[in-house]
Amino acid sequence: MTTTPPDAPLASGERKKVTTLTFRRKKLRHDPITVLTAYDYPTALAMDQAGIDSILVGDSLGMVVLGYPNTLPVTMEDMLHHCKAVARGAQYSLLIGDMPFMSYQVSVQDALRNAGRFLQEAGMDAVKLEGGRERLDVVRAIVSAGIPVMGHLGLTPQSVHQLGGFRPQGREVAAARRLLEDALLLQEAGCFSIVLESVPARLASLISQRLEIPTIGIGAGAGCDGQVLVTHDLLGLFERFTPKFVKKYADLHSEMKRAFSAYIDEVRQQTFPSAEHTVEMLDEEWQSFLDALR
Ligand code: KIV
Repeated sequence: MTTTPPDAPLASGERKKVTTLTFRRKKLRHDPITVLTAYDYPTALAMDQAGIDSILVGDSLGMVVLGYPNTLPVTMEDMLHHCKAVARGAQYSLLIGDMPFMSYQVSVQDALRNAGRFLQEAGMDAVKLEGGRERLDVVRAIVSAGIPVMGHLGLTPQSVHQLGGFRPQGREVAAARRLLEDALLLQEAGCFSIVLESVPARLASLISQRLEIPTIGIGAGAGCDGQVLVTHDLLGLFERFTPKFVKKYADLHSEMKRAFSAYIDEVRQQTFPSAEHTVEMLDEEWQSFLDALR
């Protein structure tokens, strides 16, 4: 965390660490907040250098990196391992660690202890957890320990079985009303921001206007205060399925396959390694070596 007051003037070109206060100030200025997921050092480094406001080490890790069918098998140890790598790569972004399934549902004490590990052991600045009114005690306890909490409403992947699949939420009157109420309750409990995932754009927009804290949308339209995408979707690295709301900014899966095929061909044809990729020794050293063998 920076020790510079958030409103202190900056020398031109100087970058400051993004904090939860930056999030709030950006909302007031209608300055969109940019968030992406990362799970490793090189990705975090590139993102941080590109100027992203915040990096979420999402439990989407389970699907896009670890190959599970959903996020449920992800453990605290998985999350901490990847959070540590991201923290080593990112200097300026606000770092948010996603609390995995069963790390905050069993008891408030458990939730508090696990939230603390993200900051104490893994270099995160904040945590995220899924759910609304049923999570208020947990949110209050974590926030009162000085740990910023991001909420997550709408399509909450850890409840995939309860929701009957990865499907949009809040499309009927009662569900839309419940979502708005949950967002207000999470704000009151102390969340600094809320992710709205896969909810109708006009509902997300209305919620964003009613809240003082910023909303970060994923599949929730342009009316949110910021946007987040799963980086493997954006880069075209996750081929299993692509949700409608994803825009692919690259096709790295094809690019990786192209590079791997080229390598395989060149090794088979013995065109790699060539002289330029080879270490040599001086002729006289080699000759002495051969002489010594005789
Ligand atoms: O796990 C994750 O990556 C997330 C984002 C989709 C918001 O929760």
